[in-house]
Amino acid sequence: AFEVELARSGKVIWVEADQTVARALDAAGVLLPTSCEQGICGTCLTRVVEGIPDHRDQYLTPEEQAANDQFLPCCSRAKSARLVLDL
Ligand code: FES
Repeated sequence: AFEVELARSGKVIWVEADQTVARALDAAGVLLPTSCEQGICGTCLTRVVEGIPDHRDQYLTPEEQAANDQFLPCCSRAKSARLVLDL
């Protein structure tokens, strides 16, 4: 498990091991558009301000994934203890 911080509100949300970031945000009342929830469509694309995402999508190119400045919260997770998101 890890936590995400929302850069705009300073809100910190805990993401359980059996929960996606998108579900954790939804449970916390944060609006985030999702569609496929499988890392394919790109609808949930979110900018990462700080931290290292654990990319599990099939939407970003390897180069985009390596830049670590955006990720797909419907399926991707975190390699760092905290991700700071542009939300
Ligand atoms: Fe489709 Fe996240 S909802 S990539």
